[in-house]
Amino acid sequence: MAIPTSRTKEKAEIRINEEVCTGCGLCIEVCSDFGLVIENGKAKPGSSAVFGCVACGHCMAVCPEGAIEIHGRTMSPDDLFDLPPKEKAAGYDQLLALLQRRRSIREFDSRPVEREKIDQILKVAMTAPMGLPPSDVNVLVLNSKEKNRAFVKDFCDFLETIKWFVSDWSLALMRPFWGKANNEMIRGFVKPCFDIFISRMKKGENVITYDAPLVMYFYGSPYTDPADPIVAATYAMTAGESLGLGTCMLGAIHPLIQYGGKARKFREKYGIKYPSREGLFVIFGYPSVSYKKGIIRTFASVTSN
Ligand SMILES: Cc1cc2nc3c(=O)[nH]c(=O)nc-3n(C[C@H](O)[C@H](O)[C@H](O)COP(=O)(O)O)c2cc1C
Ligand code: SF4
Ligand code: SF4
Repeated sequence: MAIPTSRTKEKAEIRINEEVCTGCGLCIEVCSDFGLVIENGKAKPGSSAVFGCVACGHCMAVCPEGAIEIHGRTMSPDDLFDLPPKEKAAGYDQLLALLQRRRSIREFDSRPVEREKIDQILKVAMTAPMGLPPSDVNVLVLNSKEKNRAFVKDFCDFLETIKWFVSDWSLALMRPFWGKANNEMIRGFVKPCFDIFISRMKKGENVITYDAPLVMYFYGSPYTDPADPIVAATYAMTAGESLGLGTCMLGAIHPLIQYGGKARKFREKYGIKYPSREGLFVIFGYPSVSYKKGIIRTFASVTSN
């Protein structure tokens, strides 16, 4: 069986036009499935493929003759496009400047985010690498402050119904199962979040998604590599920055809407198709604050051997 995803469980079909194949071997070099061989000076599907063609498209994209086509697993030759010229690509200095200027933004003016910009963000996010193609990332888009607020109100109503999860007796009962770090995180972060999210919302203040005019939720399926939605969300955030929007990643909602019947009902209401191991919300909008300085950040460790 080919590698399964929520979108397809088939391997792709490799078609080679022997008339135009020169046997240069480039497609063989880039196929990480070891699915291609040269026979009699022509490329051919081989017998030692590891998984069967996963439709990464590398062979099609590298072939100088247009001699190889991939069909299936959501891919076809129509998915090829001409690369933008190298001079148009952002260099290191531009990228660093864009990222150094970024701050998490939680204060927005009243302007909505234009449809065109939403499409531009999604276009960039779709270029993200994924564990295995085709991407198994799903995106929920809430494209107005009103939709955002309605979502968050429902989320708080849902939180009220699972408040027992952070009660003292529940935390004491679960302590042996979820370890020291989880216990500290839940007591020190998750429990206060429950309290503050619910109590502030009751006063009309949204400290969950900050009334941003655009919310995107990146999540997977039971098949998705857990890192995929996070990588896509990071690309989306960077795209938002490049379009002059303020952005902020939000980690608090995803873990709370994964388990149990009430969470399933909440997901269903918003067309969230699957529970998934990882997922991330990103908010976007025109910032109403501007920062005058950047802040130097460091990693916990960088070990070179
Ligand atoms: C995975 C992740 C989850 C986050 N979750 C939240 C959140 O739930 N609420 C929030 O206000 N900020 C959230 N943030 C933003 C961080 O608080 C912020 O990135 C951090 O304070 C550093 O500030 P900076 O992004 O301006 O450098 C999150 C950031 C990341 C990367
Ligand atoms: S890259 Fe193209 S031309 Fe070269 S061997 Fe593969 S199919 Fe043939
Ligand atoms: S699409 Fe990828 S996996 Fe399939 S034959 Fe080409 S390089 Fe190999």
